[in-house]
Amino acid sequence: MARPPAGPVREASYEAPPNIALVKYWGVRDPERVLPFNSSLSVTLDRFRSRTTVRFDPGLAEDRVALNGAAAVGGPYDGVVRFLDRVRARAGIADRAWVRSDNNFPTASGLASSASGFAALAGAASRAAGLALSDRALSQLARLGSGSASRSIFGGFVEWRAGRRPDGRDCYAVPVLPPDHWPELVDLVLFVQGAPVKEVRSAAAMQWSVATSPRYRQRVREVPRRLARIRAALRARDAARLFPAVMEECDSFREVCETTRPSLDYLTDTSRAILEEVRAIDRDAGRPVAAYTHDAGAHVHVFTLRPDLPTVRRRLGRLPGVAGTQLVRPGPGGRPIPRPSPR
Ligand code: DP6
Repeated sequence: MARPPAGPVREASYEAPPNIALVKYWGVRDPERVLPFNSSLSVTLDRFRSRTTVRFDPGLAEDRVALNGAAAVGGPYDGVVRFLDRVRARAGIADRAWVRSDNNFPTASGLASSASGFAALAGAASRAAGLALSDRALSQLARLGSGSASRSIFGGFVEWRAGRRPDGRDCYAVPVLPPDHWPELVDLVLFVQGAPVKEVRSAAAMQWSVATSPRYRQRVREVPRRLARIRAALRARDAARLFPAVMEECDSFREVCETTRPSLDYLTDTSRAILEEVRAIDRDAGRPVAAYTHDAGAHVHVFTLRPDLPTVRRRLGRLPGVAGTQLVRPGPGGRPIPRPSPR
């Protein structure tokens, strides 16, 4: 994309990380305000970042959006413009914007680029528009672009509270435990070969589940207690309680997907083999050694403690169809990137 022309400086940059949910967000009670049926809890991942710059330009006739170096078109472009419209409405401005967003990880890797992308867009667009938002308000704004983005504003272990109010004022993310809370806990991401490209956004697919899965209501009833168990196990650094609960939650999410009509099947045979091998590792050891979880995609995150990592990596890394592994840890949340000082 050509460099934006110089003009009144209304530009800001923000970078934000992806997250992996231990308790899944899946289904909204209000699609316009993106108010979920249940609270969710995630780990903010270190290493990976989306970095976004927004510049409002009075001379521009329409928004210009570059994602990872290429002009955005279709759904991704429309999603950014809709989001900018919300920011413009709130800030009382009409200017169109230059948006540039780059991930330091491959988008096709299946990492949650909508979470990091919309968190970074929310941070950059709100600042460029002159809105001084608290992190809580920023999480509420990011949510409107992608629900999971509400959690990517914060670091460490983050809970997105569903709230009850119809206006959504009590619906926001809060950090519950800092990134360094449990240094032994690691997440081995297993990338699987031939992971299908997602054709339907999660935001749309989850509403099919709400409408058609006979398991959906039961899941919504169960989640608060499971979330409380997972939060308590994290706080106590208790892997023996945490790992089974994380897998139970992932299985509940997958069951809802599979019983949705049309059925949502995000896994490949390799993903399924990874889940089976994690169960086998736990069985062989006679204790919870690791826990799997996955989002609406084929790659699998496996949580374990550092002393068990060599075994887990050896047994999972050699499974046929595993394209690669990446070790990640809880990391910091989003942050504004200061403008270089003028020379
Ligand atoms: C399965 O809010 O990320 O990852 O923006 O359409 O991609 P899109 O939806 P998003 O849905 C996330 C669903 C999930 C679970 C989770 O992250 O809580």
